[in-house]
Amino acid sequence: MARVALVTGGTRGIGAAISIALKEAGYSPVATFSGNEEKANAFGKEHDIPVYKWDVGDYDACKEGIARVEADIGPVDVLVNNAGVTQDAMFHKMTPEQWSTVMGVNLTGFFNMIHPVWPGMRERGFGRIVNISSINGQKGQMGQANYAAAKAGAIGLTKSLAQEGAAKGITVNVVAPGYIGTEMVRAVPQEVLDKRILPYIPVGRLGEPEEIARCVVFLAADEAGFITGSTFTANGGQYMA
Ligand code: CAA
Repeated sequence: MARVALVTGGTRGIGAAISIALKEAGYSPVATFSGNEEKANAFGKEHDIPVYKWDVGDYDACKEGIARVEADIGPVDVLVNNAGVTQDAMFHKMTPEQWSTVMGVNLTGFFNMIHPVWPGMRERGFGRIVNISSINGQKGQMGQANYAAAKAGAIGLTKSLAQEGAAKGITVNVVAPGYIGTEMVRAVPQEVLDKRILPYIPVGRLGEPEEIARCVVFLAADEAGFITGSTFTANGGQYMA
């Protein structure tokens, strides 16, 4: 039977490309979303991928949602923590709410999703967790103290869980995308994008969501059991960690 692969934020942007690529690779993907129900349902219908709505920032909602997925479809063998938000502001203008919203979704959200699936993966002796971090968690970014802190935190979380999961057949890895042509990047002021970001990408363009999905499919494979605790960068050469 196809392995169930749960992708958070899996109906839009990079997450949508990941859900589709996992399906093409023979998985049974499930995509979560938290926003526009109509668009998410349309995505699910178009690609024949089940979609579920919950907020990854809410631990009880994650626990309950995962239990529903497992009852409806089967145990989650692959978890892709992709859901993330930005609330960019220079630090002197950043509000406590902007800090806690981003930490709550982008870092605590990873805990909230991993914690409920971890015992089952340990029992079954198999699991693949791929945490989507960011180039900005590796190098820091003006205007993103909250986002960069959460994305760097995801790398520490990954390295710790990689050690805990290794003896149980669970791998935990990071994919760190650079600037990808999604709504999130298009929200960056055009002048900043043109003058401060694009010129520093040696490949000379934004990345495509499918280029990140390729990395996830690679790390999710049964054959990828020796790769754990790694940070897989895909950033067009903008930052070489
Ligand atoms: N790199 C270098 N300098 C930057 C910069 C950047 N990315 N962003 C802003 N600056 C500079 C501005 O050019 C400006 O400099 P000058 O005063 O010399 O003109 C100064 O910083 C202040 O900028 P603003 O006047 O624009 O200040 P603001 O308060 O209006 O807005 C901001 C600040 C919200 C940070 C806005 O500039 C911004 O959104 N910047 C982009 C931040 C960014 O890169 N976000 C990534 C989003 S995509 C993502 O997160 C996905 C991923 O994983 C990669």
